[in-house]
Amino acid sequence: MKIAVIGSGYVGLVTGACFAHLGHQVLCIDNNLEKIKLLRQGKTPIYEPGLESMIHKCVKEGKLSFSSNIVQAVQKSEILFICVNTPPKENGEADLSFIETVSREIAKNLKEYRLIVEKSTVPVQTGEWILKTIQSIQPNLSLFDVASNPEFLREGSAVKDFLKPDRVILGVESPRAEKILRALYKPFSSKIVVTDLKSAEIIKHASNSFLATKISFINAVARICDVVGADIEKVALGMGMDPRIGPSFLKAGIGFGGFCFPKDLSAFLHMSEKLGAPFELLKESLKINSAQKYYFIEKIEHHLWNLKDKTLAVLGIAFKPNTDDIRYAPSLEIIDVLQKQGAHVRVYDPQAMANARKVLHGVFFAKNPYEAVKGADALIIVTEWDEFKSLDFKKIKKLLKQSIIFDGRNMFEPEAMQRLGFQYHSIGRKAQEPRSKRSSR
Ligand code: UDX
Repeated sequence: MKIAVIGSGYVGLVTGACFAHLGHQVLCIDNNLEKIKLLRQGKTPIYEPGLESMIHKCVKEGKLSFSSNIVQAVQKSEILFICVNTPPKENGEADLSFIETVSREIAKNLKEYRLIVEKSTVPVQTGEWILKTIQSIQPNLSLFDVASNPEFLREGSAVKDFLKPDRVILGVESPRAEKILRALYKPFSSKIVVTDLKSAEIIKHASNSFLATKISFINAVARICDVVGADIEKVALGMGMDPRIGPSFLKAGIGFGGFCFPKDLSAFLHMSEKLGAPFELLKESLKINSAQKYYFIEKIEHHLWNLKDKTLAVLGIAFKPNTDDIRYAPSLEIIDVLQKQGAHVRVYDPQAMANARKVLHGVFFAKNPYEAVKGADALIIVTEWDEFKSLDFKKIKKLLKQSIIFDGRNMFEPEAMQRLGFQYHSIGRKAQEPRSKRSSR
């Protein structure tokens, strides 16, 4: 099939590359000329495992190309995926102006039947708006259909998620649109769920909101564990073994970040209020999530006392491992607060250093974790990269000024850290101090 993907961001690039990999002819569009230039040179603007090699392969096979010309996309492609940004406005509402602009561009160039598919995460009723907008320019309704096909890929495993989906949601309003999309997703036919357009839009927002709420739930429980000296990891294990609850997304820590959860929760909440059906639970999820970062900072203050002129090593800037994405990363807010308190911050991240350099000021950018901890009063773990699991903690202990670790992601066993001689503080697990110090009390 001939496909155009309009908007070559995270979702667009992965969608385009994967469809090309599955044998379709794909044209990826973006109005950022620099990005198109980069992609044409075979460079990927984002770090995503497996993506760059897939793009290389598909370009070489002539299945994938890049352009900034949307007219060409509408003329040549039977299916047009809209994958443009829907960033949050100040009030949390989704900004749909890029979707409107693209809809108008499509409408102006519509000469033959085209299936227009929204893949960007959008509030319910956006599909109706796309249809109305196109219709106002191109009134011939037989020339197009609008469908919704939300994307559930996670950063860091996006290619894998796309090629092995849990489900493929097709929100359609006509048999023709359903037939085309079913044919496109034939390799995943057993996973297809067909709904109306609005239900498909809600599935995406409701899924992300539910998952984010699960994280806030476990973080709230973790605080109770902290107070009474229980172990959140064991609590989560015990809860998650109930198949009705499930073990995933019960990892306590410093809360969720990234460009999806915070934005989608706010947008869903805003939409629910606008519709007169306010979803108050989401307000609480967001509140817990925001407070969780400060809860962690308070732990640091509680054990280090004054932060002024203390040196702190922060490991992990990305909002989660296996990505270089730092949008809405908890690290940024945490570092900002530490700096405002007068601390000197040294940072290291395996992939996000280039992005971090653009937004972090007054920090020391270390070449590796060991350089980051050199002379620091404490080590603060913010992102649970695999690389950190195999750190040489004996070496770290020697490099640190004080053997204190604050682990915002519960990466290590408290007992093991204690044996290594660290004062180890994590989330929802008993604080561990070195044996010698304990026994001397
Ligand atoms: C999410 C959804 O998972 C995906 O389906 C959707 O398409 C986009 O949004 P993503 O933002 O890539 O994907 O990351 P995800 O792996 O879901 O993690 C989101 C955040 O939650 C991260 O900051 C992560 O650290 C945090 N998280 C996740 C937890 O704190 N605890 C958990 O148990 C799981």
